[in-house]
Amino acid sequence: MSLLSVDGLSVKYGAVRALNDASLHVDDAELVVIVGANGAGKSSLLRAVSGLTKASAGSVSFAGRTITGASAESRVRSGLSLVPEGRHIFGRMTVQENLQIATWASKRRLKDEIERIHTLFPVLAERAHQVAATLSGGEQQMLAISRALVRRPKLLMLDEPSMGLAPLIVKQMFELIADVNAQGTSVLLVEQNARMALSIAHRGYLMETATLSGGGSASAMADDESLHAAYFGRSSPSP
Ligand SMILES: Nc1ncnc2c1ncn2[C@@H]1O[C@H](COP(=O)(O)OP(=O)(O)OP(=O)(O)O)[C@@H](O)[C@H]1O
Ligand SMILES: [Mg+2]
Repeated sequence: MSLLSVDGLSVKYGAVRALNDASLHVDDAELVVIVGANGAGKSSLLRAVSGLTKASAGSVSFAGRTITGASAESRVRSGLSLVPEGRHIFGRMTVQENLQIATWASKRRLKDEIERIHTLFPVLAERAHQVAATLSGGEQQMLAISRALVRRPKLLMLDEPSMGLAPLIVKQMFELIADVNAQGTSVLLVEQNARMALSIAHRGYLMETATLSGGGSASAMADDESLHAAYFGRSSPSP
């Protein structure tokens, strides 16, 4: 059985249909990517899976339980964590405080979790007492991911983690996501940076105007010429 199963999920904002009858699954230890253009409905899908946006139809099951009507908090407690678009860290708090308030863990477990995060992101150990708003963009994204990881999620959902980062940092970010997955956490990644995302993913889906398709191997998707012009950027500089 899949860790996450989404069946026929739809999201409407008034008359706007942001997501139409989307079905997907993420298995244990899988890294799955959803690529697609601006406004296609990717964030709406992740928000509906997290319980932050109400679905108008469809069902979601996670770790063997139907969670379609469950609160966002109970989904987090059951092991589903979203790193939302735009990071949402607490700017006035320190790095350490941001991590402390992200979890219900006991003091002792929190200490272990923070040590684990410092191994993964050594820069956050150096910056532990720095106010989060003064971190660089890349460091803020690492903190946002760490706030999800400190809860030891079964599934980590990331909404455009490469947004606004310099190319070198983007590469490091993707390597880190691949590492987190290699250590056993399933990952559902939404990215416009299709080429790099597919290079670390096992499987991929395509989101086009509220419709999800695909679900095959990421390498087959990366080789699909019909996707190149729209989703892989230019192979040569524009005139
Ligand atoms: N709260 C909202 N109220 C009304 N319309 C919304 C709302 N949130 C999103 N939409 C609309 O739903 C559609 C899908 O938006 P969504 O944010 O899911 O796209 P996306 O694929 O994540 O785009 P991007 O790549 O730009 O982040 C868009 O047309 C957007 O304008
Ligand atoms: Mg989005």
